[in-house]
Amino acid sequence: MFTISLIGQKGGTGKTTTALGLAVAAARAGHDVAVIDLDPQATAAKWKDRREGENPPVVSAQASRLRQTLDTAQAQGIDYAIVDTAGRNDDSALSAARAADLVLIPSRPNIVEVETLPQVNDLLRLAGNPPAFIILNGIHPAAGRASIAEIHSAIHGLFALPACPVHLCQRTAYAEAMTTGKVPQELDADGKAGDELNRLFAFVSQFLTSRGDHVEIQRHSATA
Ligand SMILES: Nc1ncnc2c1ncn2[C@@H]1O[C@H](COP(=O)(O)OP(=O)(O)OP(=O)(O)O)[C@@H](O)[C@H]1O
Ligand SMILES: [Mg+2]
Repeated sequence: MFTISLIGQKGGTGKTTTALGLAVAAARAGHDVAVIDLDPQATAAKWKDRREGENPPVVSAQASRLRQTLDTAQAQGIDYAIVDTAGRNDDSALSAARAADLVLIPSRPNIVEVETLPQVNDLLRLAGNPPAFIILNGIHPAAGRASIAEIHSAIHGLFALPACPVHLCQRTAYAEAMTTGKVPQELDADGKAGDELNRLFAFVSQFLTSRGDHVEIQRHSATA
């Protein structure tokens, strides 16, 4: 099982949107997926209340019980556990980062959000430096490759955090999906937002599976 944690030091960066979009992309690719909601606001769990159908399951959990919740998910044959956290510096972000095979940090490309990245870096250090990527979210759909590449290299240069090569644009499908208990892939099968999320899952799964042996060895030695 792979654990992917969405963290950030600010509210509204796109953690829940990304968690749910990734979860459905993974499920549609044939994997067993569970979303674990550590946010007391329970945004992911409320989305699930609005959703028709069982998949993906969303489990509300407490940070102090995350390890046990993940063990249960693994015992039930879950392939991807996706952990959504609250947008502030609290136990849930640290626990989620500690448990993660991969941490994803959505951030809008504006100074207010980018300024919080050093705190995220500190938190990742405390968590033992799990692999992590920033996901640029809310990029203008007309932004060119050059300006996105510039933001990537600025973030990497300033905070030593790599930016994920797949970014998410500002699109109404993301907001609409959240209110209807869906994800963009389900609103418009060939739409651009759905395509971004599918490509994000493809990148994440390739990253995790290509370093899978290494992760398993690390886990084994951690519990030995
Ligand atoms: N790329 C996007 N385009 C348009 N709207 C977006 C996009 N990403 C997120 N949103 C909208 O922004 C709002 C905040 O997103 P979301 O709830 O995913 O953020 P969050 O980081 O989980 O927030 P919190 O810290 O409060 O949990 C939501 O209304 C969501 O629909
Ligand atoms: Mg959220």
